[in-house]
Amino acid sequence: MSQLHVTNHPLIQHKLSILRDKRTGTKQFRELIEEIAMLTCYESTRDLQLTEVTVETPMTTMKSNVIKGHKLAFVPILRAGLGMVDGVLKLVPAAKVGHIGLYRDPVTCKPVEYYCKLPGDISERDVFVLDPMLATGGSAIDAITQIKERSPRNIKFMCIIAAPEGVAALQEAHPDVDIYAAAVDEKLNDHNYIIPGLGDAGDRIFGTK
Ligand code: PRP
Ligand code: URA
Repeated sequence: MSQLHVTNHPLIQHKLSILRDKRTGTKQFRELIEEIAMLTCYESTRDLQLTEVTVETPMTTMKSNVIKGHKLAFVPILRAGLGMVDGVLKLVPAAKVGHIGLYRDPVTCKPVEYYCKLPGDISERDVFVLDPMLATGGSAIDAITQIKERSPRNIKFMCIIAAPEGVAALQEAHPDVDIYAAAVDEKLNDHNYIIPGLGDAGDRIFGTK
Protein backbone atom coordinates (compact mmCIF):
# COMPACT_ATOMS: atom_id res chain seq x y z
CA MET A 1 0.00 0.00 0.00
CA SER A 2 1.25 3.49 -0.84
CA GLN A 3 2.26 5.93 1.88
CA LEU A 4 0.31 9.09 2.69
CA HIS A 5 2.65 11.92 3.78
CA VAL A 6 0.95 14.92 5.38
CA THR A 7 3.33 17.87 5.70
CA ASN A 8 1.88 19.69 8.67
CA HIS A 9 4.79 22.10 9.16
CA PRO A 10 3.79 25.34 10.98
CA LEU A 11 4.60 27.47 7.90
CA ILE A 12 2.34 25.31 5.76
CA GLN A 13 -0.48 25.37 8.30
CA HIS A 14 -0.27 29.18 8.48
CA LYS A 15 -0.30 29.58 4.70
CA LEU A 16 -3.15 27.07 4.37
CA SER A 17 -5.34 29.05 6.75
CA ILE A 18 -5.01 32.15 4.54
CA LEU A 19 -5.50 30.05 1.39
CA ARG A 20 -8.76 28.59 2.67
CA ASP A 21 -10.20 31.99 3.66
CA LYS A 22 -12.90 33.01 1.16
CA ARG A 23 -11.76 36.66 1.41
CA THR A 24 -8.29 35.82 0.01
CA GLY A 25 -8.01 37.31 -3.50
CA THR A 26 -6.59 35.79 -6.68
CA LYS A 27 -3.10 37.29 -6.43
CA GLN A 28 -2.48 36.11 -2.88
CA PHE A 29 -4.18 32.75 -3.54
CA ARG A 30 -1.80 32.09 -6.46
CA GLU A 31 1.24 33.06 -4.42
CA LEU A 32 0.19 30.77 -1.56
CA ILE A 33 -0.45 27.78 -3.86
CA GLU A 34 3.04 28.27 -5.29
CA GLU A 35 4.67 28.56 -1.84
CA ILE A 36 2.86 25.54 -0.38
CA ALA A 37 3.74 23.52 -3.49
CA MET A 38 7.40 24.43 -2.97
CA LEU A 39 7.31 23.39 0.68
CA THR A 40 5.52 20.12 -0.15
CA CYS A 41 8.11 19.45 -2.88
CA TYR A 42 10.82 19.70 -0.20
CA GLU A 43 9.15 16.72 1.52
CA SER A 44 8.37 14.73 -1.61
CA THR A 45 12.01 14.84 -2.75
CA ARG A 46 13.40 13.80 0.63
CA ASP A 47 14.34 10.31 -0.62
CA LEU A 48 16.36 11.41 -3.68
CA GLN A 49 19.66 9.56 -3.69
CA LEU A 50 22.97 11.36 -3.28
CA THR A 51 26.44 10.78 -4.61
CA GLU A 52 29.71 12.06 -3.19
CA VAL A 53 31.82 14.67 -5.01
CA THR A 54 34.96 16.56 -4.10
CA VAL A 55 34.57 20.30 -3.55
CA GLU A 56 37.32 22.84 -3.09
CA THR A 57 36.20 25.52 -0.71
CA PRO A 58 38.32 28.67 -0.34
CA MET A 59 39.80 26.96 2.75
CA THR A 60 40.29 23.29 1.87
CA THR A 61 39.15 20.28 -0.13
CA MET A 62 36.20 18.25 1.17
CA LYS A 63 33.82 15.44 0.24
CA SER A 64 30.27 16.68 -0.25
CA ASN A 65 26.98 15.33 -1.64
CA VAL A 66 25.04 16.14 -4.78
CA ILE A 67 21.85 14.56 -6.14
CA LYS A 68 22.68 11.37 -8.01
CA GLY A 69 21.81 12.00 -11.66
CA HIS A 70 18.08 11.78 -10.98
CA LYS A 71 15.89 12.96 -13.81
CA LEU A 72 12.59 14.39 -12.62
CA ALA A 73 9.42 15.44 -14.40
CA PHE A 74 6.52 17.42 -12.99
CA VAL A 75 3.10 16.81 -14.54
CA PRO A 76 0.39 19.30 -13.52
CA ILE A 77 -3.23 18.29 -14.08
CA LEU A 78 -4.80 21.24 -15.92
CA ARG A 79 -5.95 23.69 -14.93
CA ALA A 80 -5.39 23.97 -11.23
CA GLY A 81 -2.16 21.94 -11.17
CA LEU A 82 -0.52 24.73 -13.19
CA GLY A 83 -0.60 26.85 -10.05
CA MET A 84 1.90 24.51 -8.39
CA VAL A 85 4.49 24.40 -11.22
CA ASP A 86 6.50 27.55 -10.49
CA GLY A 87 6.84 26.55 -6.83
CA VAL A 88 8.28 23.09 -7.53
CA LEU A 89 10.54 24.41 -10.32
CA LYS A 90 12.10 26.82 -7.82
CA LEU A 91 13.46 23.75 -6.02
CA VAL A 92 14.19 21.59 -9.09
CA PRO A 93 14.78 24.05 -11.95
CA ALA A 94 16.16 21.44 -14.37
CA ALA A 95 13.07 19.20 -14.24
CA LYS A 96 10.98 18.69 -17.36
CA VAL A 97 7.26 19.51 -17.33
CA GLY A 98 4.44 17.51 -18.95
CA HIS A 99 0.77 18.47 -19.01
CA ILE A 100 -2.43 16.47 -18.64
CA GLY A 101 -5.74 18.19 -19.34
CA LEU A 102 -8.70 16.83 -17.37
CA TYR A 103 -11.80 18.40 -15.93
CA ARG A 104 -14.53 16.94 -13.77
CA ASP A 105 -17.85 16.77 -15.56
CA PRO A 106 -20.08 18.96 -13.37
CA VAL A 107 -22.93 16.43 -13.42
CA THR A 108 -21.20 13.04 -13.21
CA CYS A 109 -18.03 14.32 -11.42
CA LYS A 110 -16.09 11.91 -13.68
CA PRO A 111 -12.87 13.18 -15.28
CA VAL A 112 -13.02 14.18 -18.95
CA GLU A 113 -9.64 14.09 -20.76
CA TYR A 114 -8.74 16.80 -23.28
CA TYR A 115 -4.93 17.01 -23.44
CA CYS A 116 -1.80 14.97 -22.77
CA LYS A 117 1.76 16.02 -23.61
CA LEU A 118 4.55 14.32 -21.67
CA PRO A 119 8.37 14.51 -21.97
CA GLY A 120 9.64 12.05 -24.62
CA ASP A 121 12.11 10.48 -22.18
CA ILE A 122 9.56 10.02 -19.39
CA SER A 123 10.53 6.33 -19.04
CA GLU A 124 13.85 7.53 -17.55
CA ARG A 125 12.23 9.94 -15.12
CA ASP A 126 10.70 10.07 -11.66
CA VAL A 127 7.32 11.76 -12.14
CA PHE A 128 5.54 14.04 -9.69
CA VAL A 129 1.87 14.58 -10.59
CA LEU A 130 0.57 17.94 -9.34
CA ASP A 131 -3.01 18.92 -8.48
CA PRO A 132 -4.04 21.10 -5.53
CA MET A 133 -7.22 19.07 -4.87
CA LEU A 134 -7.67 15.31 -4.39
CA ALA A 135 -11.46 15.03 -4.00
CA THR A 136 -13.02 11.77 -5.28
CA GLY A 137 -9.61 10.85 -6.72
CA GLY A 138 -11.03 10.35 -10.23
CA SER A 139 -8.78 12.95 -11.91
CA ALA A 140 -5.59 11.78 -10.17
CA ILE A 141 -6.35 8.11 -10.92
CA ASP A 142 -6.99 8.85 -14.60
CA ALA A 143 -3.90 11.05 -14.99
CA ILE A 144 -1.67 8.45 -13.33
CA THR A 145 -3.15 5.67 -15.49
CA GLN A 146 -2.24 7.69 -18.61
CA ILE A 147 1.29 8.38 -17.35
CA LYS A 148 1.85 4.70 -16.46
CA GLU A 149 1.23 3.77 -20.11
CA ARG A 150 4.59 5.51 -20.80
CA SER A 151 6.40 3.49 -18.06
CA PRO A 152 8.10 6.18 -15.92
CA ARG A 153 10.58 5.00 -13.27
CA ASN A 154 8.36 6.08 -10.40
CA ILE A 155 5.28 8.25 -9.75
CA LYS A 156 4.39 10.38 -6.74
CA PHE A 157 1.23 12.45 -6.36
CA MET A 158 1.43 15.92 -4.77
CA CYS A 159 -1.61 17.90 -3.67
CA ILE A 160 -2.47 20.67 -1.24
CA ILE A 161 -5.77 19.38 0.20
CA ALA A 162 -6.94 15.76 0.08
CA ALA A 163 -10.27 14.24 1.08
CA PRO A 164 -10.14 10.86 2.86
CA GLU A 165 -12.32 9.42 0.06
CA GLY A 166 -9.79 10.51 -2.60
CA VAL A 167 -6.84 9.14 -0.65
CA ALA A 168 -8.57 5.75 -0.29
CA ALA A 169 -9.56 5.61 -3.97
CA LEU A 170 -6.09 6.60 -5.20
CA GLN A 171 -4.37 4.12 -2.88
CA GLU A 172 -6.64 1.35 -4.10
CA ALA A 173 -6.22 2.17 -7.82
CA HIS A 174 -2.47 2.89 -7.67
CA PRO A 175 -0.99 1.25 -4.55
CA ASP A 176 2.54 2.01 -5.78
CA VAL A 177 2.04 5.82 -5.82
CA ASP A 178 2.89 7.73 -2.65
CA ILE A 179 0.70 10.74 -1.85
CA TYR A 180 2.05 14.04 -0.47
CA ALA A 181 -0.55 16.47 0.92
CA ALA A 182 -0.43 19.62 3.02
CA ALA A 183 -3.74 18.66 4.70
CA VAL A 184 -6.31 15.87 4.76
CA ASP A 185 -9.77 17.35 5.32
CA GLU A 186 -12.95 15.91 6.80
CA LYS A 187 -15.09 14.72 3.89
CA LEU A 188 -16.71 15.41 0.51
CA ASN A 189 -20.10 17.13 0.24
CA ASP A 190 -22.98 15.96 -1.99
CA HIS A 191 -21.36 17.68 -5.00
CA ASN A 192 -17.99 16.04 -4.31
CA TYR A 193 -16.38 19.26 -3.07
CA ILE A 194 -13.93 18.98 -0.19
CA ILE A 195 -15.23 20.13 3.21
CA PRO A 196 -13.94 22.42 4.69
CA GLY A 197 -11.61 22.69 1.65
CA LEU A 198 -11.02 25.96 -0.15
CA GLY A 199 -13.73 25.94 -2.82
CA ASP A 200 -12.87 25.55 -6.52
CA ALA A 201 -9.08 25.69 -6.81
CA GLY A 202 -9.00 26.39 -10.58
CA ASP A 203 -11.47 29.26 -10.30
CA ARG A 204 -9.59 30.79 -7.36
CA ILE A 205 -6.19 30.54 -9.10
CA PHE A 206 -7.35 31.94 -12.41
CA GLY A 207 -10.04 34.33 -11.17
CA THR A 208 -12.79 32.67 -13.22
CA LYS A 209 -16.42 32.08 -12.17
C1 PRP B 1 -10.51 20.00 -9.86
C2 PRP B 1 -9.16 19.77 -9.24
C3 PRP B 1 -8.87 18.34 -9.60
C4 PRP B 1 -10.22 17.70 -9.54
C5 PRP B 1 -10.34 16.96 -8.25
O1 PRP B 1 -10.39 20.24 -11.21
O2 PRP B 1 -8.17 20.66 -9.68
O3 PRP B 1 -8.29 18.18 -10.89
O4 PRP B 1 -11.18 18.76 -9.60
O5 PRP B 1 -11.52 16.27 -8.21
P1 PRP B 1 -11.60 14.67 -8.22
O6 PRP B 1 -10.55 14.19 -7.26
O7 PRP B 1 -13.00 14.39 -7.76
O8 PRP B 1 -11.34 14.21 -9.62
P2 PRP B 1 -11.64 20.71 -12.12
O9 PRP B 1 -12.34 19.53 -12.67
O10 PRP B 1 -12.46 21.68 -11.34
O11 PRP B 1 -10.93 21.38 -13.36
P3 PRP B 1 -10.07 22.73 -13.44
O12 PRP B 1 -8.76 22.46 -12.73
O13 PRP B 1 -9.91 22.89 -14.91
O14 PRP B 1 -10.84 23.83 -12.78
N1 URA C 1 -12.13 20.46 -7.08
C1 URA C 1 -11.90 21.62 -6.44
O1 URA C 1 -11.33 22.58 -7.01
N2 URA C 1 -12.31 21.73 -5.17
C2 URA C 1 -12.91 20.72 -4.52
O2 URA C 1 -13.25 20.88 -3.33
C3 URA C 1 -13.13 19.52 -5.21
C4 URA C 1 -12.72 19.41 -6.50
